[in-house]
Amino acid sequence: MKQINVAVLGLGGMGGTHVGAAKASPYVNKIIGYEPDPERARLRGEELGIESTADLDAILNDPDIALVTIAAINAVHAEQTIRSLRAGKAVLCEKPMAENLADAKNMVAAEAETGIFLQIGFELHYSKMYTTVKDWIDAGLIGTPVNCHCRYYCSEFHLKNTWRSRSKGTMIGEKLSHYLDLQRWFMGSPVEDVFSMHAPNAVTYFNHPDNHQINLRFENDAIANLNFVMHIGETDHTDPLLELLEKQSDDGHFLQYHIFGTKGAIEADVFRRRIRRWEFSDSPKQLVSKIVETLTFPKEEDQVWFHNTHGQNVRVAELVAKGLPPENPATDALETMKVGFAAETSEREKRIVKLSEM
Ligand SMILES: NC(=O)c1ccc[n+]([C@@H]2O[C@H](COP(=O)([O-])OP(=O)(O)OC[C@H]3O[C@@H](n4cnc5c(N)ncnc54)[C@H](O)[C@@H]3O)[C@@H](O)[C@H]2O)c1
Repeated sequence: MKQINVAVLGLGGMGGTHVGAAKASPYVNKIIGYEPDPERARLRGEELGIESTADLDAILNDPDIALVTIAAINAVHAEQTIRSLRAGKAVLCEKPMAENLADAKNMVAAEAETGIFLQIGFELHYSKMYTTVKDWIDAGLIGTPVNCHCRYYCSEFHLKNTWRSRSKGTMIGEKLSHYLDLQRWFMGSPVEDVFSMHAPNAVTYFNHPDNHQINLRFENDAIANLNFVMHIGETDHTDPLLELLEKQSDDGHFLQYHIFGTKGAIEADVFRRRIRRWEFSDSPKQLVSKIVETLTFPKEEDQVWFHNTHGQNVRVAELVAKGLPPENPATDALETMKVGFAAETSEREKRIVKLSEM
């Protein structure tokens, strides 16, 4: 079995997850971490049990490193991706691709120019809750999906004076890009129009709106809506004994998808650890709707069902070691980024934005 060396750029919370996945992969030989500040590089390297450096050029010039995974702050994603691709490294870069559309387009252009592997970390494509929904849709179990609602209400977790609350990017890129990406994936038709609104902030120290209603119309005339508020869910006081999902299931947190089709519907409910499927049938009296499938899962499986970054990264290491192409193309991730930037334009200019404008 061919093994590769992997560099992880950015050793914060998500960098730790990337390192954990690289350690778990049988396709990975050696891992090196990067942080720009030498003291932080040393400290995080020690904590994560890996070699680390503050010298990015040393990583990019090392011919033995085949894969760079980027878990740094959003502002540097584009630059680090493009430099890594040009240095001949395969790249897995966290979402959002970049803080502006021009940079995201430059990343895809660098992939085309170099012909090297680039995948973006929309890891919900590897999370069982959503792959199950996608499988049900692809099997035709709900007919043609015509309407999709995502409602996401959560507690404030960007915190004061962090790169997230000060970011030049927005909540749409940092957070909602996942959920816009899923809506595109589920509906399976290109987005044509975007109309989005945001209301005045509840969290005054954010450099970006904290509540959005994003409406999409797809080429096949299906529609979708994403409704997001970041402040109603009760604040988590990080009690280690707290069973978080149980608490959040009825304290204002809400993350639920409904996909309505011509022959049935699907509901995916994160805080209830549950997916359900309805089937519609005809009868002499009326259209009949019945819940025909319900899946639940234990908390031990949360990571695999909800946010399977680990599984995604393990798989990407395998793809790169075997010389296989990305499973989730960066060109597709760019379409999601366009939808997000179209929503921002729509909010700013208070009008419907055609995706073809982006
Ligand atoms: N896929 C997901 O569900 C998911 C979840 C969380 C975070 N993320 C993404 O992962 C990235 C990191 O988020 P996080 O939660 O780990 O944040 P974090 O604040 O915990 O970590 C960010 C790290 O980047 C480091 N950093 C700063 N400048 C850098 C540079 N120039 N080069 C390399 N590192 C640099 C910081 O020192 C810090 O250690 C973000 O892009 C975020 O959007 C994705």
